[in-house]
Amino acid sequence: MSFLGELFGPLTDDQRFPSIASMEKAAKRRTPRFAYDYMAGGIGAEEGLARNISDFAQVKFMPRFLAEPGAVDLTTTILGQEVAAPFAPGPVGLTGLMWPDAPLHIARGAKAHGLPAGLSSVATSSLEEVSAVLGDRLWFQLYPMRDPTIEEDILARYKAAGGEVLLVTVDIPGPTRRARDIRNGLAVPPRRHWTTYLQGAMRPRWAIETLKTGIPSFKTLTRYEDTAGGETTASLLSRVLGGHNPPERLKRYRELWPGKMVIKGLLSVDDARIAQEIGADGIIVSNHGARQLDAAPTAIDVLPDIRQAVGGSMAVMVDGGVRTGLDIARYLALGADFVLMGRPMAFSVAAMGARGPVHALEILKQELSSTMLQIGCTDPRELGRYIYRG
Ligand code: FNR
Repeated sequence: MSFLGELFGPLTDDQRFPSIASMEKAAKRRTPRFAYDYMAGGIGAEEGLARNISDFAQVKFMPRFLAEPGAVDLTTTILGQEVAAPFAPGPVGLTGLMWPDAPLHIARGAKAHGLPAGLSSVATSSLEEVSAVLGDRLWFQLYPMRDPTIEEDILARYKAAGGEVLLVTVDIPGPTRRARDIRNGLAVPPRRHWTTYLQGAMRPRWAIETLKTGIPSFKTLTRYEDTAGGETTASLLSRVLGGHNPPERLKRYRELWPGKMVIKGLLSVDDARIAQEIGADGIIVSNHGARQLDAAPTAIDVLPDIRQAVGGSMAVMVDGGVRTGLDIARYLALGADFVLMGRPMAFSVAAMGARGPVHALEILKQELSSTMLQIGCTDPRELGRYIYRG
């Protein structure tokens, strides 16, 4: 390369975005406040949100140097699927607000890395669109609905698309008040208020991309809107979503869904046992990114007890607060078989567009591998043996 070429050449993706944290900073600069706040925010005073991150510091590893550990191997099998690493993007609703087509970019990033990816019921790309990218590595997430015909239709569509893994999210019994979203007047479709336009206009790149792609909508669900009756997306959602999930409701999903079924959003040992009893293939220990109950425990708090209670007969997965490969290692060491993440993937698209998820997942893979090399552990399932208990 010539001297001038070297002097003024472009920075690499790694130089511009060496970490997930750097992507979040860029996401904040590039997206309107209502979109960033929706993605980044939590419930209440956001103490739970802070704990989701800070609790990781409790988990330390004792590295071993005087051994010959061999090569780190991240490949694993989860829910009967062979995957390249023990982590993946989880389901997050409305990511298209942060950047157009975010669910498709995230799915393509996961595919490029040999990973599955979750897709929310309230995603801004349809399950058919994303399944065309991921095939049976799409993990569709269902919010239980008060209208069984809609649920059954969605499950039939998912089956027809070749779906295997169904995530049933049970931790949204009803609406919450999130101060950031209330202050910003967040709505779907977005409110036509001057503050919305102003926030959008302050992020011209986002505004141009959004105008090109169209206002985000809940693409899997829009067909169920009773448009003749004047129903909007918001009224559809408040009509069909919500409620608690007693075991009979979960048993119904178990009967309806022939593939793998995972219950997402559990924190208590008792709930984990119920999930096991109704025949779930797995659970996701999660406090929903600290967006529902500010006083909920973190997954770090409860994961070891849940793992112990359910034993090895079902997949125990976890999410919340993962921002580095070290965080993934810590969750695995506490007993998780597999780790999901929400916000990091959306931030990566907002920071870098289509290339973001490929880069973010590469960072996490490299960080997890180098963490394991430092520890002297080659198999992610063995990480628990290296926890330092002082
Ligand atoms: C979520 N989450 C979520 N979960 C789910 O099952 N269905 C959904 O539609 C959504 N929507 C959603 C929107 C936003 C903006 C966030 C931040 C989260 C929860 C998500 O799957 C996951 O549990 C958390 O995001 C994990 O925390 P981190 O990784 O974001 O810290």
